[in-house]
Amino acid sequence: MTQGVVPAGITRLIGNTPLLRVRLFEKEFPRVEVYAKAEWFNPGGSVKDRAALSMIEDGERRGALTRDKTIIDSTSGNTGIAYAMVGAAKGYRVKLVMPSNVSAERKALVTAYGAEIVYSDPGEGSDGAIRRVRELVAAEPDAYFYPDQYSNPANARAHYEGTAVEILQQTNGRVTHFLAGLGTTGTFVGTSRRLKEHDASIRTIAIQPEDSFHGLEGLKHIPTAIVPKIWDPTLADDIWGCPTEPAYDLARTIARTEGLLVGHSSGAALWAVRRLAGTIKEGVVVTVFPDSGDRYLSTGLYGRK
Ligand SMILES: Cc1ncc(COP(=O)(O)O)c(C=O)c1O
Repeated sequence: MTQGVVPAGITRLIGNTPLLRVRLFEKEFPRVEVYAKAEWFNPGGSVKDRAALSMIEDGERRGALTRDKTIIDSTSGNTGIAYAMVGAAKGYRVKLVMPSNVSAERKALVTAYGAEIVYSDPGEGSDGAIRRVRELVAAEPDAYFYPDQYSNPANARAHYEGTAVEILQQTNGRVTHFLAGLGTTGTFVGTSRRLKEHDASIRTIAIQPEDSFHGLEGLKHIPTAIVPKIWDPTLADDIWGCPTEPAYDLARTIARTEGLLVGHSSGAALWAVRRLAGTIKEGVVVTVFPDSGDRYLSTGLYGRK
């Protein structure tokens, strides 16, 4: 096959994202090497491509997803874009339930891939979307394939088989610390499980918003949320609550100092990396940048012209 030619569809390009060296804290903490998985390199633009593909292909293998069914799920945005993209590539109809206040870019992207949106109450956040999708599926169970990203082991497995293996290869097994934000918890759970099986001394830190009212789209405050079934707190050596504004500040900073235009939750990852770097003398720290900042331009994260 000629180099650069993808034989069978866009989904082949999911995963194997670059591991970027992050220099932001280098002066302050010279012996802490920081790396981030650049997940916006996935074709749907976020880490959620991995989970969506894994859950859809698992449904195909189990016979739960057949041609007559519509893929339906609740999503704060990125998973929806991923379902819509993978669904379009594989020829399935896709219906997504999301709070009506998700960013305009996300709604437009999902619609561009041909998916249908059902809006839930913005005041009820992602939990309101979960309740609404359950109602729709209960009313017409045979019409839908409902992957349920919060309960589906194939979500975390995408990271167990993909993200973690890539991190071990890309760091030549040198990774000492792993940090990731909690949404469905799939990224953190799947990656941490594999890393700890490989080397039990690898420390893992989960990041959640500081409280239930926050501006960190994609992340969940676990104590006040519907707890995802796939969440496994025994995999976290620590769970830190990140404040919104410092996360935004770091997302703005890294765009200007390193040319990395990342989203809110990557700012939260940076906040946690900095806190960690202040407590360890040296280490090889790996985190995840789930998506790009161009998904949030209309929110004013980077300032308005
Ligand atoms: C921007 C963003 N960051 C982080 C996450 C968290 O990933 P996970 O669902 O694997 O916990 C998500 C998930 O939706 C997200 O959209």
